[in-house]
Amino acid sequence: MRLLIFLLFFGTLTAEEPRLRIEIFDTPEELAEACASKIARLIQTKKNCVLGLATGNTPIPSYRALANKVAQTDLSEVVTFNLDEYIGLAPEDPRSFHSFMETHLFSSLLESPARPRGFKRSNLHIPEGKQKAEEYEAAIARLGPIDLQILGIGTNGHIGFAEPGSPFESKTSVVQLSENTRRDNQPAFGSDPVPEFAITMGISTILQAKEILLLATGSKKAEIIRQMLTQPISPWIPATAVRLHPNATLFLDREAASLLGSLHAKD
Ligand code: F6R
Repeated sequence: MRLLIFLLFFGTLTAEEPRLRIEIFDTPEELAEACASKIARLIQTKKNCVLGLATGNTPIPSYRALANKVAQTDLSEVVTFNLDEYIGLAPEDPRSFHSFMETHLFSSLLESPARPRGFKRSNLHIPEGKQKAEEYEAAIARLGPIDLQILGIGTNGHIGFAEPGSPFESKTSVVQLSENTRRDNQPAFGSDPVPEFAITMGISTILQAKEILLLATGSKKAEIIRQMLTQPISPWIPATAVRLHPNATLFLDREAASLLGSLHAKD
Protein backbone atom coordinates (compact mmCIF):
# COMPACT_ATOMS: atom_id res chain seq x y z
CA MET A 1 0.00 0.00 0.00
CA ARG A 2 1.25 3.50 -0.72
CA LEU A 3 0.09 6.69 0.87
CA LEU A 4 0.57 10.02 -0.90
CA ILE A 5 1.04 13.12 1.16
CA PHE A 6 1.73 16.69 0.18
CA LEU A 7 3.78 18.25 2.87
CA LEU A 8 2.27 21.07 4.81
CA PHE A 9 4.72 22.38 7.34
CA PHE A 10 2.35 23.92 9.81
CA GLY A 11 4.25 26.77 11.34
CA THR A 12 7.36 26.42 9.19
CA LEU A 13 6.15 26.42 5.57
CA THR A 14 7.24 29.64 3.94
CA ALA A 15 5.28 31.19 1.10
CA GLU A 16 8.05 30.60 -1.43
CA GLU A 17 8.50 26.97 -0.46
CA PRO A 18 7.22 24.60 -3.16
CA ARG A 19 5.10 21.60 -2.25
CA LEU A 20 7.11 18.50 -1.59
CA ARG A 21 5.44 15.18 -2.41
CA ILE A 22 5.89 12.40 0.12
CA GLU A 23 4.95 8.80 -0.61
CA ILE A 24 4.95 6.32 2.22
CA PHE A 25 5.21 2.60 1.52
CA ASP A 26 4.48 -0.29 3.85
CA THR A 27 7.79 -2.02 3.14
CA PRO A 28 11.22 -1.20 1.64
CA GLU A 29 10.43 -3.74 -1.10
CA GLU A 30 7.32 -1.82 -2.18
CA LEU A 31 9.34 1.38 -2.16
CA ALA A 32 12.05 -0.24 -4.30
CA GLU A 33 9.47 -1.46 -6.78
CA ALA A 34 7.97 2.04 -7.12
CA CYS A 35 11.40 3.66 -7.45
CA ALA A 36 12.50 1.15 -10.10
CA SER A 37 9.24 1.64 -12.03
CA LYS A 38 9.71 5.40 -12.01
CA ILE A 39 13.28 5.17 -13.32
CA ALA A 40 12.37 2.50 -15.90
CA ARG A 41 9.45 4.60 -17.17
CA LEU A 42 11.76 7.57 -17.62
CA ILE A 43 14.39 5.50 -19.46
CA GLN A 44 11.73 4.01 -21.72
CA THR A 45 10.01 7.29 -22.58
CA LYS A 46 12.73 9.92 -22.62
CA LYS A 47 15.29 9.85 -25.39
CA ASN A 48 18.84 10.47 -24.13
CA CYS A 49 17.75 10.39 -20.53
CA VAL A 50 20.25 11.54 -17.90
CA LEU A 51 20.09 9.87 -14.50
CA GLY A 52 21.71 11.00 -11.27
CA LEU A 53 22.56 7.97 -9.14
CA ALA A 54 23.32 7.43 -5.45
CA THR A 55 25.17 4.64 -3.68
CA GLY A 56 24.57 3.37 -0.13
CA ASN A 57 22.39 0.60 1.24
CA THR A 58 19.08 2.33 0.58
CA PRO A 59 18.94 2.15 -3.25
CA ILE A 60 20.28 -1.42 -3.55
CA PRO A 61 16.82 -3.09 -3.76
CA SER A 62 15.69 -0.39 -6.22
CA TYR A 63 18.68 -1.07 -8.48
CA ARG A 64 18.00 -4.81 -8.33
CA ALA A 65 14.37 -4.23 -9.36
CA LEU A 66 15.45 -1.75 -12.04
CA ALA A 67 17.92 -4.21 -13.59
CA ASN A 68 15.05 -6.69 -14.01
CA LYS A 69 12.69 -4.12 -15.45
CA VAL A 70 15.10 -2.79 -18.10
CA ALA A 71 16.78 -6.08 -19.03
CA GLN A 72 15.22 -5.84 -22.54
CA THR A 73 15.44 -2.05 -22.89
CA ASP A 74 17.91 -0.20 -25.11
CA LEU A 75 20.17 1.62 -22.64
CA SER A 76 22.76 2.76 -25.13
CA GLU A 77 21.66 6.42 -24.97
CA VAL A 78 21.24 6.56 -21.19
CA VAL A 79 23.76 8.80 -19.44
CA THR A 80 24.42 8.52 -15.71
CA PHE A 81 26.18 10.70 -13.15
CA ASN A 82 26.93 9.41 -9.67
CA LEU A 83 26.85 11.74 -6.72
CA ASP A 84 30.13 10.97 -5.05
CA GLU A 85 33.22 8.84 -4.46
CA TYR A 86 35.82 8.43 -1.74
CA ILE A 87 39.23 10.00 -2.31
CA GLY A 88 42.12 7.57 -2.05
CA LEU A 89 40.41 4.35 -3.15
CA ALA A 90 41.21 2.88 -6.55
CA PRO A 91 38.09 2.35 -8.70
CA GLU A 92 38.73 -1.42 -8.47
CA ASP A 93 38.74 -1.32 -4.66
CA PRO A 94 35.65 -3.29 -3.60
CA ARG A 95 34.74 -0.50 -1.16
CA SER A 96 34.76 2.24 -3.83
CA PHE A 97 31.51 3.58 -5.22
CA HIS A 98 32.79 2.58 -8.68
CA SER A 99 32.74 -1.04 -7.48
CA PHE A 100 29.39 -0.53 -5.79
CA MET A 101 27.75 0.63 -9.02
CA GLU A 102 29.36 -2.17 -10.99
CA THR A 103 28.10 -4.77 -8.51
CA HIS A 104 24.62 -3.44 -7.89
CA LEU A 105 23.59 -2.08 -11.27
CA PHE A 106 26.05 -1.75 -14.13
CA SER A 107 27.55 -5.24 -14.40
CA SER A 108 24.39 -6.93 -15.65
CA LEU A 109 23.43 -4.06 -17.96
CA LEU A 110 26.67 -3.05 -19.65
CA GLU A 111 27.12 -3.33 -23.40
CA SER A 112 28.55 -6.74 -24.39
CA PRO A 113 28.30 -9.07 -27.40
CA ALA A 114 25.35 -10.69 -25.66
CA ARG A 115 23.84 -7.30 -24.81
CA PRO A 116 24.66 -4.87 -27.65
CA ARG A 117 22.14 -2.32 -26.41
CA GLY A 118 23.42 -2.12 -22.88
CA PHE A 119 24.87 0.83 -21.02
CA LYS A 120 27.86 2.30 -22.86
CA ARG A 121 30.69 2.60 -20.36
CA SER A 122 31.56 6.01 -21.82
CA ASN A 123 28.10 7.25 -20.78
CA LEU A 124 28.56 6.34 -17.12
CA HIS A 125 30.18 9.00 -14.92
CA ILE A 126 31.47 8.70 -11.38
CA PRO A 127 33.62 11.49 -9.92
CA GLU A 128 37.20 10.50 -9.28
CA GLY A 129 39.46 12.92 -7.52
CA LYS A 130 40.55 16.40 -6.73
CA GLN A 131 41.68 17.38 -10.21
CA LYS A 132 38.41 16.13 -11.71
CA ALA A 133 35.89 18.23 -9.70
CA GLU A 134 35.58 21.05 -12.22
CA GLU A 135 35.64 18.64 -15.15
CA TYR A 136 32.83 16.67 -13.54
CA GLU A 137 30.72 19.77 -13.04
CA ALA A 138 31.40 20.77 -16.66
CA ALA A 139 30.37 17.32 -17.92
CA ILE A 140 27.05 17.58 -16.07
CA ALA A 141 26.53 21.02 -17.58
CA ARG A 142 27.39 19.70 -21.07
CA LEU A 143 25.40 16.46 -21.03
CA GLY A 144 22.69 17.43 -18.55
CA PRO A 145 20.55 18.64 -17.07
CA ILE A 146 19.99 15.52 -15.02
CA ASP A 147 16.40 14.40 -15.62
CA LEU A 148 16.02 12.51 -12.35
CA GLN A 149 18.40 12.63 -9.41
CA ILE A 150 18.15 9.76 -6.91
CA LEU A 151 19.25 10.68 -3.39
CA GLY A 152 19.67 8.89 -0.08
CA ILE A 153 20.09 10.76 3.18
CA GLY A 154 22.77 10.46 5.85
CA THR A 155 21.79 10.26 9.52
CA ASN A 156 23.26 13.78 9.82
CA GLY A 157 21.19 15.06 6.87
CA HIS A 158 23.89 14.91 4.22
CA ILE A 159 22.91 14.41 0.59
CA GLY A 160 25.62 13.04 -1.64
CA PHE A 161 28.58 13.74 0.61
CA ALA A 162 27.52 17.36 1.04
CA GLU A 163 27.92 17.42 4.80
CA PRO A 164 26.28 19.76 7.34
CA GLY A 165 27.57 23.27 6.74
CA SER A 166 27.95 22.85 2.95
CA PRO A 167 26.73 26.07 1.33
CA PHE A 168 23.66 25.71 -0.88
CA GLU A 169 25.72 27.32 -3.70
CA SER A 170 28.31 24.52 -3.54
CA LYS A 171 29.33 22.76 -6.73
CA THR A 172 31.20 19.48 -7.20
CA SER A 173 34.20 19.56 -4.88
CA VAL A 174 36.43 17.64 -2.53
CA VAL A 175 35.07 17.63 1.02
CA GLN A 176 36.13 16.33 4.40
CA LEU A 177 33.76 13.67 5.71
CA SER A 178 32.20 14.25 9.13
CA GLU A 179 32.94 11.91 12.01
CA ASN A 180 29.26 10.91 11.94
CA THR A 181 29.46 9.84 8.28
CA ARG A 182 32.73 7.98 8.77
CA ARG A 183 31.20 6.13 11.72
CA ASP A 184 28.03 5.26 9.77
CA ASN A 185 30.13 3.94 6.87
CA GLN A 186 32.63 2.03 9.02
CA PRO A 187 30.97 -1.41 8.54
CA ALA A 188 31.99 -1.45 4.86
CA PHE A 189 35.63 -0.91 5.88
CA GLY A 190 35.95 -3.47 8.67
CA SER A 191 39.00 -2.56 10.76
CA ASP A 192 40.43 -0.18 8.11
CA PRO A 193 39.85 3.55 8.49
CA VAL A 194 37.08 5.12 6.39
CA PRO A 195 38.66 7.66 3.99
CA GLU A 196 38.68 11.17 5.38
CA PHE A 197 37.92 12.91 2.09
CA ALA A 198 35.50 12.43 -0.75
CA ILE A 199 34.47 14.16 -3.96
CA THR A 200 30.80 15.01 -4.19
CA MET A 201 28.31 16.95 -6.24
CA GLY A 202 27.44 20.13 -4.36
CA ILE A 203 23.98 21.16 -3.21
CA SER A 204 23.65 23.57 -6.12
CA THR A 205 24.64 20.79 -8.57
CA ILE A 206 22.00 18.50 -7.06
CA LEU A 207 19.28 21.17 -7.14
CA GLN A 208 19.86 21.72 -10.87
CA ALA A 209 18.32 18.31 -11.62
CA LYS A 210 14.88 18.55 -13.25
CA GLU A 211 13.44 16.17 -10.69
CA ILE A 212 14.66 14.79 -7.36
CA LEU A 213 13.64 11.52 -5.70
CA LEU A 214 14.98 11.08 -2.16
CA LEU A 215 14.75 7.58 -0.66
CA ALA A 216 14.84 6.71 3.04
CA THR A 217 14.12 3.41 4.72
CA GLY A 218 14.38 2.05 8.25
CA SER A 219 13.95 3.47 11.72
CA LYS A 220 17.53 4.77 11.73
CA LYS A 221 16.41 7.47 9.27
CA ALA A 222 13.20 8.47 11.10
CA GLU A 223 14.72 11.29 13.18
CA ILE A 224 16.62 12.94 10.32
CA ILE A 225 13.56 12.70 8.07
CA ARG A 226 11.54 14.43 10.81
CA GLN A 227 14.21 17.14 11.03
CA MET A 228 14.49 17.49 7.27
CA LEU A 229 10.77 18.19 7.05
CA THR A 230 10.16 20.24 10.17
CA GLN A 231 13.34 22.25 10.84
CA PRO A 232 14.13 25.55 9.10
CA ILE A 233 15.85 25.20 5.73
CA SER A 234 19.56 25.52 6.44
CA PRO A 235 22.98 24.24 5.33
CA TRP A 236 23.24 22.58 8.76
CA ILE A 237 20.70 20.04 7.54
CA PRO A 238 21.73 19.79 3.86
CA ALA A 239 18.65 17.71 2.91
CA THR A 240 16.39 20.67 3.78
CA ALA A 241 17.64 22.15 0.48
CA VAL A 242 15.47 19.57 -1.32
CA ARG A 243 12.46 21.52 -0.01
CA LEU A 244 13.50 24.39 -2.30
CA HIS A 245 13.26 22.21 -5.42
CA PRO A 246 10.08 22.65 -7.50
CA ASN A 247 9.79 18.96 -8.42
CA ALA A 248 10.93 16.79 -5.53
CA THR A 249 9.48 13.63 -4.02
CA LEU A 250 10.36 11.63 -0.94
CA PHE A 251 9.81 7.89 -0.95
CA LEU A 252 9.76 6.66 2.66
CA ASP A 253 8.95 3.33 4.19
CA ARG A 254 6.76 3.27 7.30
CA GLU A 255 9.74 3.10 9.63
CA ALA A 256 11.49 6.12 8.13
CA ALA A 257 8.17 8.00 8.26
CA SER A 258 7.38 6.93 11.82
CA LEU A 259 8.11 10.31 13.45
CA LEU A 260 6.04 12.36 10.99
CA GLY A 261 2.99 12.50 13.21
CA SER A 262 2.36 16.17 12.52
CA LEU A 263 2.12 15.86 8.73
CA HIS A 264 -1.26 15.93 7.10
CA ALA A 265 -2.42 14.10 4.00
CA LYS A 266 -3.89 16.28 1.26
CA ASP A 267 -5.26 15.81 -2.30
C1 F6R B 1 25.99 7.90 -1.48
C2 F6R B 1 25.36 9.09 -0.94
C3 F6R B 1 25.02 9.22 0.51
C4 F6R B 1 24.05 8.13 0.96
C5 F6R B 1 23.73 8.29 2.44
C6 F6R B 1 22.80 7.20 2.95
O1 F6R B 1 26.18 8.06 -2.88
O2 F6R B 1 25.13 9.96 -1.69
O3 F6R B 1 24.43 10.47 0.71
O4 F6R B 1 22.88 8.21 0.20
O5 F6R B 1 24.91 8.28 3.19
O6 F6R B 1 23.45 5.98 2.88
P1 F6R B 1 22.65 4.63 3.17
O7 F6R B 1 21.69 4.44 2.06
O8 F6R B 1 23.71 3.57 3.20
O9 F6R B 1 21.97 4.82 4.49
